[in-house]
This record gives sequence, C-alpha cells and structure tokens, in this order.
Amino acid sequence: MVKAVVAGAAGGIGQPLSLLLKLSPYVTELALYDVVNSPGVAADLSHISTKAKVTGYLPKDDGLKNALTGANIVVIPAGIPRKPGMTRDDLFKINAGIVRDLVTGVAQYAPDAFVLIISNPVNSTVPIAAEVLKKHNVFNPKKLFGVTTLDVVRAQTFTAAVVGESDPTKLNIPVVGGHSGDTIVPLLSLTKPKVEIPADKLDDLVKRIQFGGDEVVQAKDGLGSATLSMAQAGFRFAEAVLKGAAGEKGIIEPAYIYLDGIDGTSDIKREVGVAFFSVPVEFGPEGAAKAYNILPEANDYEKKLLKVSIDGLYGNIAKGEEFIVNPP
Ligand code: NAD
Ligand code: LMR
Repeated sequence: MVKAVVAGAAGGIGQPLSLLLKLSPYVTELALYDVVNSPGVAADLSHISTKAKVTGYLPKDDGLKNALTGANIVVIPAGIPRKPGMTRDDLFKINAGIVRDLVTGVAQYAPDAFVLIISNPVNSTVPIAAEVLKKHNVFNPKKLFGVTTLDVVRAQTFTAAVVGESDPTKLNIPVVGGHSGDTIVPLLSLTKPKVEIPADKLDDLVKRIQFGGDEVVQAKDGLGSATLSMAQAGFRFAEAVLKGAAGEKGIIEPAYIYLDGIDGTSDIKREVGVAFFSVPVEFGPEGAAKAYNILPEANDYEKKLLKVSIDGLYGNIAKGEEFIVNPP
C-alpha cells in the first residue's frame, strides 16, 4: 500500500504529474493538495479506472494535515514558475516560504515519507527542506531528494539528436551538480553506451542541456516554464524511488542529495566540498541506498564545468540554509 501526496497538485506540473501517479501500479492512494482547485482535479482523476483512491484537499479544515497523514511519498511542485528574463533564484523570495511551510507539514504529519522537491530554485529549496526537517529532529538524508531528472531527460534527448540515436532512452547519461544553468553538469564522456560527440558541437550541446529550461520559458512567453516534460521527469523519479522501496534492484537515477548519511557520500563530499550535490543514487527500501562517486572519471573539460558548478552551489545552499537558521 503506497500513499502518494502531490503538493501543488492543481498547477502546470501538478496536474499531469498527478495523472501519471494515478496510472502507476505502485500507487494505491493519491492525495492532492493545493491552495486552489485540488478537489476539482481529484474529482476528475478519480473517474479513471485504476486502483489508486484519489482525494483532494485545500488549506481549510486541516487540509494539509489530512493530505499528509499516512503518506509514504510527498512530491512538491508548489510555487511560482519563471517568466522570460528571470533566473530560478528570482523565485526564491516566494517559493522559499512555500517550501518551508509544506515541509513543516511533512515533518509534523509524515515524518517518514520520501520527500521529492521540484519547486525552484531546487539548489536552495532542498537545503531549506533539510533545515526544516532537522529543526523537527526528523531529517533522514536517505529520504530527501531534489528532483533533477529533467536535466537527465534533456541530456538524453539533445545528445541523441546530435549523435543520430533514434531512441534517446537508450543513452544513459549522468548529469550531476545542481539544477540551474552552469551548476548543471552533464558528464557526456561517461555516457553508456559511449557516444562520439563532434568537437565542434560539444560546447553547444552542453549549453543546451544547462539552459534547456530557458528554451521553454521563452517559448511559453510569460505563461510559465516546463510543465509536461517536468511531469514526466518527476514521475520517472518518483517511480524509481517507489521501485527501490518495493525491493527492486539496480534502480539508479541522479538526484540532488545531502552529502552525509548515505553510503558513498563521504567520498563525494571530500571531493566537492558543498553539502548538497546531484549524483547517481541507487534506491532501496529505505530510500537512497548508495550514492556513486563518478566524479573522478570525468575528463578535463568536465572537471572545469564541475568547478564552476561547485562555486555556484556554495552560495545557493547557504542562502537556503540561512532562510531557516536565521529567518529574515
Ligand atoms: P504553476 O504556477 O502552474 O503551479 C504551481 C501550483 O502551486 C499552483 O497550482 C499553486 O496554486 C500551487 N501553490 C502555490 N502555493 C502553494 C502552497 N502554499 N501550497 C500548495 N500549493 C501551492 O507552476 P508550475 O509550472 O507547476 O511550476 C511549479 C514549480 O516547479 C516552479 O517553482 C517551477 O520553477 C518548478 N519547476 C521545477 C523543475 C525542476 O526540474 N525541478 C522543472 C519545472 C518547473
Ligand atoms: C526547468 O529546468 O525547466 C525548470 O527548472 C523550470 C525553469 O525555470 O527553467
């Protein structure tokens, strides 16, 4: 029996993500929480003839408490998206408080749940979530994840186009670091099976993966950022967590994690210095069972990208932690 909660379920990501979770054989109960329209989205999805029971909650009548109680996995895409000209960090002012309040609810009502943060800026909102959980003495690094899967999905799609691979899902490309611009580091040299990227195409491919989010923001022209591709990516990640929890072996996806308390993280922490970093994670019944330190295998070109990523992450992480430790 798995109860999944989507917080921000009526939004551009929340609705298609909730649809995909309703279709998943791994979910038996789906609770949708939002400040608007979640009962409507729940009523709509509840007519689909899959086994998951769907309910919708608004803040009134203890809605957050009722949505979260008994949850095994909580996915958080609540918050405002970018408009052209904005960075993800520009979202901090509004989204930091939204994530703080939702994760406070998780700490109170679902302290053992897996927590998947989609709300931007992920580089900072995940440290916020960690500090909130620490404050309530329920922080388990194995269960808190920043969802960076869209970067992996884009790396597959864009690299396949460059190398002429007709099925992008055949490419296993580790993308590490953070989730914004040049904190995103695709380790294309570690792609399996190996790909040959023409030297004159490499810079453009890396930039396209790093700034793929901007392409969508510009194309939507003021009406938001990636929602459908993010729903698919968020679902892919949530199912990976649920498969690991169900005892399936060999389930690995990159995720932005706290570099302590998970097998493999001490080596990675020694290498990067920052407290959070996205690396390939293997999932098990308790969540993150192992983090893979593939960074020493990166080539010199990628090592330069890693340095830029780490330099950027220091400030993003400190900003998130400060927001809880020394509230404004
Ligand atoms: P959206 O505006 O369409 O939806 C956000 C939803 O959150 C809305 O329904 C809103 O009512 C709800 N909400 C706001 N405050 C809330 C609260 N306190 N509690 C519960 N729900 C609340 O936005 P979107 O396009 O779905 O994007 C959501 C977030 O996801 C943005 O911050 C965006 O930048 C981020 N995002 C992250 C990734 C990633 O790769 N991690 C990818 C795309 C978008
Ligand atoms: C993305 O990568 O598409 C998201 O982080 C949304 C954004 O603001 O670009």
